[in-house]
Amino acid sequence: MSNRYAIILAAGQGTRMKSKLYKVLHPVCGKPMVQHVMDQVNNLNIEKIVTIIGHGAELVKEQLGDSCEYALQEEQLGTAHAVMQAAQQLAGLEGTTLVVCGDTPLIKAETMDALIKTHEEAHAAATVLTAVTENPAGYGRVLRNAEGHVEKIVEHKDATEEERQVTEINTGTYCFDNKALFSALQNVSNENAQGEYYLPDVIEILKSAGHIVTASRTEDFEETLGVNDRVALSQAEAILKKRINEMHMRNGVTIIDPSNTYIETGVTIGRDTVIHPGSIIKGESIIGEDCVIGPHTEIKNCEIGNSSTVRHSAAFESIIGSYVNIGPFAHIRPDSDIRDKAKIGNFVEIKKAVIGEGSKASHLSYIGDAEVGNDVNIGCGSITVNYDGKNKYLTKIEDHVFIGCNSNLVAPVTIGRGAYVAAGSTITEDVPEDALSIARARQINKEDYVQNLKINE
Ligand code: UD1
Ligand code: CA
Repeated sequence: MSNRYAIILAAGQGTRMKSKLYKVLHPVCGKPMVQHVMDQVNNLNIEKIVTIIGHGAELVKEQLGDSCEYALQEEQLGTAHAVMQAAQQLAGLEGTTLVVCGDTPLIKAETMDALIKTHEEAHAAATVLTAVTENPAGYGRVLRNAEGHVEKIVEHKDATEEERQVTEINTGTYCFDNKALFSALQNVSNENAQGEYYLPDVIEILKSAGHIVTASRTEDFEETLGVNDRVALSQAEAILKKRINEMHMRNGVTIIDPSNTYIETGVTIGRDTVIHPGSIIKGESIIGEDCVIGPHTEIKNCEIGNSSTVRHSAAFESIIGSYVNIGPFAHIRPDSDIRDKAKIGNFVEIKKAVIGEGSKASHLSYIGDAEVGNDVNIGCGSITVNYDGKNKYLTKIEDHVFIGCNSNLVAPVTIGRGAYVAAGSTITEDVPEDALSIARARQINKEDYVQNLKINE
C-alpha cells in the first residue's frame, strides 16, 4: 500500500443554496456536510488530509479543528484550481491522493476505501467514482469510448444534447497518483461554459498523455448525492435519516413510523426502546433500554436511563434517570437532573434543578434553580420563585417534603426534611424539619352577607 493523502474541497460559497450559511456548513441530520465527509475520510488511514477553504474559511476551520491541514483558495476559480492550492502540502509526494467534495455528505468510508483499492490495483493515474442516475441534470457526465473505457468528463453546462443523455455521472470523488495529479493540473484551462478550471478535465489530460485512467461505478447513487441547493439538501436529509433509523432498528430499537422520526447522527439508543412518531432526538443524546419516547417529543443532548417514558415533551441538556415518567407536555430545560422513578407531569417546567428519586411534580409547576430531595411531592400549581428581576436564588426542598397545591416558595429558602407546606402558602422563610407551615390569610366567612346585599337593593 502506498502513502495515502486526501483533499476535501470546501471553498465554494454555494450560491445555489441562497443562504447566509456557507454550503458545506449546512447540517444534514444535525451535522455539517463537511464534517460528515471528514468523519468518513478519517476512517481511511490517511497520512495527510488537506481541506481547501475559501468562503467561510474561519468557520470551516472552527468546525473541523485540527483534524486536517488547510489550504486557502482566495478566489474560487474552479475545482482544479482548488486542488492546486494543496500543492504546498502535497506536490512532489509519492502516493495516492483521494479527492472528495465537501458537499457529498452521504459518501461512506467503505466506498472510498474500495475506490482507493481499485485505483491501486489498476496502477492507474486516475480513478473516478461514478454512479448512474435517471436524473443526471447538473452533474458532470462520464463519456466512455467504444471499449467502455473512460475518455473524459463533460460538465452539464458544456455538454451537447447527446452527451446529456448519458446517465453515468461523476460523483466528484476521485483517486489520483499524487505526482501525476499535480503535473496534470498545470494543463487545465478555463475555456468552458463557466470560465472555471475543472478538476474533471484532469481525466482527459492524463488519458491523452498515455496514463491509465479508470472508473469505478458504485451501485448506490444516493450515497454520492451532491448537495447544491435546498432540494438536494432535503433529499440528503431523508436518505441519511433512513440510514440512521434503520441502524437503530437493526440494533433492537422499535421505531413505529421511521418516516416521521428524526434522529441525529450522534444519538445512542438501547434495545427495546420504542420511539413513537414525531420524535426528534438530537445531539449526543443517550437513551437507555426499554424507554418509550414520543409521540411528539424533542430531546437534545440528554442522557436518559432505562425504562423511562417521555411523551409529548421537550428536554434539553439534562440527565434523566431510570423509571422516570415525563409528560405529556413537560419542558425540561438545561442542567436538570431528574433522578430515578421521579415523575414530571403535564405543564411542568424544570430548569437547572435536581429532582430526587421518587419525587413528583405532577401538574402545572415551575421548578427552577432548585434542589429537590427524594420522595418529595410538589402539589399542583406550586412554583419556585427564583428570580427577583436581577438575581436567581436557590430553593432547597429536603427529602419527604409535601408541598401543598398552589404554593410559592420564594428563594432563597429551605424546606426542611419531612415538612409540610399548606396549600396556597407563600413561603418566604425557611421551614424547619417536620413542621407544618401555613402562610396565607385566614379565611373569613361573612354570614348572610349576600342576602343582606340583596335586601338593600
Ligand atoms: C462538481 C463536478 C461535477 C460532478 C459534481 C458531483 C467540477 C467542475 N464538476 O460539480 O463533474 O458531477 O461535482 O457532485 O468539478 N469548490 C472549491 N473551490 C472552487 C469550486 C468549488 O473548493 O473554486 C468546492 C465546493 O465547495 C464544493 C466542491 O468543490 O464542495 C464541488 O463544487 P461545486 O461547485 O458544487 O461543483 P458541481 O457543480 O456540483
Ligand atoms: Ca456540488
